[in-house]
Amino acid sequence: MRDDPTAGRSRREFVRAAVAAGTSAALAACLADERSVNAPTGVEEPASLPDRQHAWNDALHADQDGNVSPPEHHVFLSLSLSEAPDETARKTVRTALRDIERAVARDTDGILFTLGYTPAYFERFDAPLDDAVDLPKPDPILALTAESDVTIDTSDALLHLASDDGAVVLAVEQALFGDRGTLNGRSVSASLDAVFERTTRRTGFVGPGLPAARQHGLDGVPDTEPVPEEAPFFMGFRSGFRESQATEDRVTIRNGPFAGGSTQHFETLELDLDVWYDESDHEQRVARLFSPAHADRETVGEIGERLGTETGIASVTDEIHDHARDEGVVGHAQKLAQARDDGTPVLLRRDVNTTDGDVCGVHFVSLQRELSEFTRVREAMAGEEFRQYGLGPRQGNGILRYLRVRRWGSYLIPPRSHRALPRPEPNGEVR
Ligand code: HEM
Repeated sequence: MRDDPTAGRSRREFVRAAVAAGTSAALAACLADERSVNAPTGVEEPASLPDRQHAWNDALHADQDGNVSPPEHHVFLSLSLSEAPDETARKTVRTALRDIERAVARDTDGILFTLGYTPAYFERFDAPLDDAVDLPKPDPILALTAESDVTIDTSDALLHLASDDGAVVLAVEQALFGDRGTLNGRSVSASLDAVFERTTRRTGFVGPGLPAARQHGLDGVPDTEPVPEEAPFFMGFRSGFRESQATEDRVTIRNGPFAGGSTQHFETLELDLDVWYDESDHEQRVARLFSPAHADRETVGEIGERLGTETGIASVTDEIHDHARDEGVVGHAQKLAQARDDGTPVLLRRDVNTTDGDVCGVHFVSLQRELSEFTRVREAMAGEEFRQYGLGPRQGNGILRYLRVRRWGSYLIPPRSHRALPRPEPNGEVR
């Protein structure tokens, strides 16, 4: 490597930029270098890993209050099949994924990943998926507002790679797609690009300080660069408190051929932070994101630091119609907590910030046992019932006014044993 792209920048800054930029030839050359990856080693026997692909929580760190902290760096690859999903292709996928698990630990310093499949993928098989799992074709009806121009994900699969070390995410992507023959000192024997084409590459990041550090010069962000220094998300507040997240058990499919799997929703939202920060003050932002009662009682703090593991949102869902009528505002979390199941959240959210295309946004990822549960919760977010008080999407109806949906997709995340090109009725496939 003649020119050192890390010169004058810390390696950490360089890697962050690299994850967002993707694997350009120059970058690939730099990162194909073994020195750039120093991850804990994986397992000799991948079959010993948890059967739930989505069981990440045990591997994730906790924050100071005991909430699960997501990995910092994320890449989402939409994949389209270039080969028929036959036994040969299945074996290639299985081997490529196991190679990764042998080379790099399933950990935040190593790599966490899920491979999910769209309803479009399953359409090629004679047997309908409906008999096995609740995964209807994506219907973005809930996302369609006047400003939205939504692309449905009709590719076959979505690979989500995540790590606290951006260099590991990039190296794993390269190893999976034939751009390097070794990973973390081990050789790689199969590559997904024999089976899939990468159709879309999206990137994300999350964690205290990261949004503020990246707000400069983005579409949708005012020049005043208002994102609070320590906020983990662009809208300025912590999220993902333990009491408002579903457990991994709650989102796991219980019966049928995909028992042990989950369903995943993925949507990309663009954010209007100009309006969010310029036209409302901190108190109004708390009212719109949490509830007017949270704003009155000042229970949230600058970025949510006063909330430990819970928002206390359940105690204000009964007041929601009063808030709509008397205050002209209902909170996002307040609306969504109405959709809990007997007091228990049904979605496990793993959303991240993004600056893809130099636009400020969110890749919203959620896991749930059945996709209909997601639909029910997203209906609560649409908040149609509050129109009677004059709260359309452009008024104080949670945070709808600041969001534009751009992409929308649904996926089955099979258990590990069926993650390689599953049939609607898989039998006896090995890990
Ligand atoms: C830019 C987009 C979004 C932002 C900034 C955001 C932010 C937040 C925040 C700050 C909370 C309260 C803290 C917490 O409990 O985690 C929350 C709760 C929640 N959000 Fe969002 N959210 C966004 C989009 C979505 C979407 C698209 C959904 C999908 C339906 C969603 C579903 C939920 C749910 C289910 C809760 C928990 C409610 C409960 O406590 O039961 N959010 N969100």
